[in-house]
Amino acid sequence: MTSQYSQLLRRHDVPGPRYTSYPTVPYWSATPSPEAWLESLASPPGNDRGAGAAIYVHVPFCEALCTYCGCNTRITRNRSLAPPYVDVVLAEWEMYRRRLSPANDLPLAELHLGGGTPTYLEPIDLGRLVGGILSGVRIAKDAELSIEADPRVTRREHLEVLRQHGFTRLSLGIQDFDPAVQKAVNRTQSEDLVSKVVEQARELGFTGVNFDLIYGLPFQTETSIRETLAAVSRLGPDRIAFYGYAHVPWIKPWQRTFTEEDLPVGEAKRNLYDIGRDLLADCGFHEVGMDHFAVESDPLLKAAREGSLHRNFMGYTPRSVFPLVGLGVSSIGDSWRSFAQNEKAVEPYSQRVLAGELPIIRGHVLTEEDLVLRRHILNVMTRYATRWNTPELRTPFLESAHSRLAGLAGDGIVELQSDGCTVTPLGRAFLRNVCMALDARLARKDPGERVFSRAV
Ligand SMILES: C[S@@+](CC[C@H](N)C(=O)[O-])C[C@H]1O[C@@H](n2cnc3c(N)ncnc32)[C@H](O)[C@@H]1O
Ligand code: SF4
Repeated sequence: MTSQYSQLLRRHDVPGPRYTSYPTVPYWSATPSPEAWLESLASPPGNDRGAGAAIYVHVPFCEALCTYCGCNTRITRNRSLAPPYVDVVLAEWEMYRRRLSPANDLPLAELHLGGGTPTYLEPIDLGRLVGGILSGVRIAKDAELSIEADPRVTRREHLEVLRQHGFTRLSLGIQDFDPAVQKAVNRTQSEDLVSKVVEQARELGFTGVNFDLIYGLPFQTETSIRETLAAVSRLGPDRIAFYGYAHVPWIKPWQRTFTEEDLPVGEAKRNLYDIGRDLLADCGFHEVGMDHFAVESDPLLKAAREGSLHRNFMGYTPRSVFPLVGLGVSSIGDSWRSFAQNEKAVEPYSQRVLAGELPIIRGHVLTEEDLVLRRHILNVMTRYATRWNTPELRTPFLESAHSRLAGLAGDGIVELQSDGCTVTPLGRAFLRNVCMALDARLARKDPGERVFSRAV
């Protein structure tokens, strides 16, 4: 690592959002009424985006807690909670379906099951959930149906049910293969176990296999990352999400079960990413957006090259899909003009749905300025560049954008154009910092230290 790069890391490793939305969740201020929310879902944005609608379903259950975990989970071995949860999610979907289908005949372009661990559900319940959601829905010809699965609980029967319903993408939580790291984060899974799930998935016809890896976990070293990446290359996924560990123990107190001294931070943490990125490049993976990699044949890479890459609460997707309906606890829906998030715990969520209410806990109706800045932040996260060269892409806040980007430009992170900016190859490590310079809400109100994880 050069000393110039080290200096940049020291200067720019500050707390910052991950920009899966703009405005970011801590700045949401105007929750839409249920009626306004349904109204905005029923009128998706113009033709330039919106290849179809998307549904995200959150299944919060997991058998055991991984101590790094930042997701919304319900850790339980009491499996009797799961079948009624499926019924409630289907009841929630019924409320949307009744309202959306006559007004909005958009086909379904994406269905994503995340969590928690959707394959915690017994195959019969998984089939009921997916079958109930898809029944009577017009599905786009090239729709993508995908699921996040924990290899430790995923059985062939789960994969069979998913294939019967048209799922082709499987995302496996891997994180790290090193035994010391796995022990520290309470997640033991061998290469053999993962290999079996990958083989079954390929055999049954899954065409896209994603691995989630994390850098910055306790006890990770250059050697352990190299070994993990060697195992990954033997297993042959098509796509990799290589996430920086988000350490937020004030929100997720179980992250205190390991000592902070055991965590690689700052330069050491970024070094792990750089090693991983170079090894992935050697195995034919190309960097896409932030923290993502894909092989030549993967639609995400094609989308990145063609400029159609999109980013939302589910991460990167190959195209813009609107509206996004979120079902289940803590799910976030997105109509482009508004966001709405559900209750986070199973009991209040279920009670409200069973009472016939949309279980929204908070949301945000975007202002005109939000809508313009949302476009630019999305451009930076997906295309490494943005321009405010037409009236609809301008807003008064951008008049001072160059002065806020000047420090990053001086450090070689961005190049400034009269009406925009382009992130340099060096600057890709600092994409979140570039977005922060375009974030009017952050500029107006510092959220304080204890909100976001660190940017690098
Ligand atoms: C819902 S989980 C994946 C599915 C399944 N529960 C599993 O773990 O196998 C989603 C992913 O979020 C990532 N993740 C969770 N907590 C994180 C954290 N604190 N920092 C960075 N990534 C995290 C992990 O890579 C994890 O695989
Ligand atoms: S990483 Fe996955 S399996 Fe582990 S606690 Fe989080 S959601 Fe559950």
